[in-house]
Amino acid sequence: MIAVGTLRMLAPLVLCSAGPALAEPRTDYMLHCQGCHLPDGGETPGKVPPLAGHIDRFLSRPGGREFIMRVPGVAQSGLPDARIAALLNWIVQEFGSARRLSAPLFTAAEVARYRQQPLTDPLAQRRAILAQSPKR
Ligand code: HEC
Repeated sequence: MIAVGTLRMLAPLVLCSAGPALAEPRTDYMLHCQGCHLPDGGETPGKVPPLAGHIDRFLSRPGGREFIMRVPGVAQSGLPDARIAALLNWIVQEFGSARRLSAPLFTAAEVARYRQQPLTDPLAQRRAILAQSPKR
C-alpha cells in the first residue's frame, strides 16, 4: 500500500537510478513499508504500530525477533529473503535505540525459516510478547 504522493515523489529516483540502487534497504522501505509505517516509522493510532523507538521492544523479548520476521507486512512482502534481512537490519539501525548494538544482525537464512510460519493472530501474538519482561 503506497500513497500516490509517495509514488510521484519516488518516480524520478526510480527512473534515474541504476538497477542495484533499487535493492537499497532505504528504497525497499519507501516502496514496500512506508505506505503504512510512514517515512519516519511513526504510528497511525489504532491502525499501524510505531517502529520508531519501539522496535527494540521486540528484540529484547523472547519470541520478538521471530515475530518481526513473521508479521504479514514482512513475511508476505514479496521481497527475497536477503533483501528482507537487509531491510530489517536497516530498520533496527534507523528506528532502534542503543539496544540495537547488542542485537545480532538478521540473516537471509532465518528470514527464510520464519516467514514460512505466518502469524495466525498478529495482534494477540504481539500482546503476548510485549507482556513479557525484557531480557537483560
Ligand atoms: C498494509 C500496511 C502495512 C505494510 C505495507 C507493512 N506493514 Fe508492518 N505492520 C502493519 C501492521 C498493521 C502491523 C501490526 C501487526 C499486524 O496487525 O500485522 C505491522 C507490524 C510490523 C512490525 C512489528 C511491530 C509491531 O509493533 O507489531 C514490523 C517490524 C513491521 N510491521 C515491519 C514492516 C516492514 C519491514 C514492512 C515492509 C516490508 C511492512 N511492515 C509493511 C502494517 C503494514
